[in-house]
Amino acid sequence: MRLLFVLIAISLLPVVAQEKKAADKLTFKAKTGDVTFDHAAHSKRVNEDCKVCHDKLWPESATAPLNYKAAMHRTAETKQISCGFCHRPGGTSFESKGNCNKCHVRGAKKG
Ligand code: HEC
Ligand code: HEC
Ligand code: HEC
Repeated sequence: MRLLFVLIAISLLPVVAQEKKAADKLTFKAKTGDVTFDHAAHSKRVNEDCKVCHDKLWPESATAPLNYKAAMHRTAETKQISCGFCHRPGGTSFESKGNCNKCHVRGAKKG
């Protein structure tokens, strides 16, 4: 009986340890093709400095609004918010214009 408890406790450990960590990849649904956001790669690029994005750009949530889609991303780029904080003309990464398919992938993953 005691052994069983130990085994259950051990099997639960990884779940507890991951609780505060986001999934490596988050998928955002879009009619124009779903977008895979590589959370792990993005974190690594800013040396795991969570504060670059949380909670300044978004709360640590998988369901809170991204506030990115208005006016085909132009609003976020102009205001330098959401993904447009970096993904904009003159930003640290590619702007939306001309790069739709770097983020939006049609077909393949549809269920
Ligand atoms: C480049 C920006 C960025 C960085 C850096 C970043 N995150 Fe996130 N994170 C996001 C985005 C975007 C979401 C989704 C927000 C939404 O859906 O509203 C998210 C969601 C999350 C979630 C909820 C998702 C889930 O799977 O439950 C957690 C937890 C989280 N982040 C933790 C962290 C931690 C801890 C760090 C630092 C190691 C970090 N984030 C660094 C952008 C970032
Ligand atoms: C803190 C700055 C920052 C934020 C915020 C950010 N990105 Fe990125 N993103 C980058 C950088 C830097 C790259 C690397 C590519 C490059 O050099 O242009 C990148 C690359 C990407 C790529 C190419 C695949 C990859 O990960 O290499 C996708 C897709 C992407 N970002 C989507 C998003 C989405 C969607 C959001 C908002 C939910 C977002 N990014 C927010 C900085 C950012
Ligand atoms: C940096 C990544 C990225 C780029 C580049 C990008 N998008 Fe998006 N797009 C997203 C994300 C993430 C969402 C989901 C936003 C949300 O849920 O608020 C989205 C949502 C949308 C939506 C809303 C779809 C719906 O179902 O409501 C449209 C329309 C759209 N994008 C069009 C475009 C077009 C057109 C381009 C090229 C000019 C483009 N996007 C470039 C990441 C990107």
